[in-house]
Amino acid sequence: MTKEHSKWFQSWFDTSYYHILYKHRDYKEAEVFIKNIVNYLNLDKDDSILDLACGKGRHSIFLNTLGYKVTGLDLSKNSIEHAKTHESNSLHFDVHDMRDIYKTQFEVVLNLFTSFGYFEEEADNFKVIQTIKSSLKQNGIGVIDYMNSPVVIDNLIAQNTYEAEGVKFELKRSYTDGFITKDIKVNDADEIHHFEEKVRAFSFQDFETMLSNVGLHLLDCFGNYKLEPFNSKTSERLILIFMAND
Ligand SMILES: C[S@@+](CC[C@H](N)C(=O)[O-])C[C@H]1O[C@@H](n2cnc3c(N)ncnc32)[C@H](O)[C@@H]1O
Repeated sequence: MTKEHSKWFQSWFDTSYYHILYKHRDYKEAEVFIKNIVNYLNLDKDDSILDLACGKGRHSIFLNTLGYKVTGLDLSKNSIEHAKTHESNSLHFDVHDMRDIYKTQFEVVLNLFTSFGYFEEEADNFKVIQTIKSSLKQNGIGVIDYMNSPVVIDNLIAQNTYEAEGVKFELKRSYTDGFITKDIKVNDADEIHHFEEKVRAFSFQDFETMLSNVGLHLLDCFGNYKLEPFNSKTSERLILIFMAND
């Protein structure tokens, strides 16, 4: 196993356990958010959309049912294999690392449900912003849906357990050196597996800097999937809307 293959985000998201743990973050949640965001963005029916780090494609699939041409990209082979069962002329999925520039440009690029901040190196996280920028057509719109880090840190539950589909999870959370870490112990029929999530706790100001450094212009910021205004002290989410100017 190479060093690169031992990164937490390459192993954890490719397991069935990730999907069991987050099964409550479902298609219904995705549909509510997508309806609101599509309404807000006022897109043309022939607009093309990139869902960067799409997982099994819950947002992509729903966007496609609304008539848009959608491409979903993700590093997880298993998730893309699942998503591909939904492919059509106007819905495509591919295995792709979001740090690498993609071959096509789109009117809209989405990065949803905290699919950002996974890399130890600042330069790698910044590469994702560069991928978003280079994937946008002129006047294209980008959307990043991220956690609101200060609220997550203030409300961190140090330890809890969860059980679903016969699998037991023991979860431990901490905030160290600018990263929010979730240690995940899985007990599946008495077989024990260990995983980790480690996400850089970027703030609104961090995003402002990263976006402006790459020439992306912030248009709006929302605090939840109903698209209510962002408040750094109380909002659940940090949803950034921005535009490529050149
Ligand atoms: C929190 S999940 C969100 C998935 C999807 N956006 C959703 O809302 O269901 C994060 C996703 O990022 C993907 N991911 C992690 N590292 C990646 C990388 N370097 N390039 C592309 N996708 C990556 C994972 O495989 C996972 O599907």
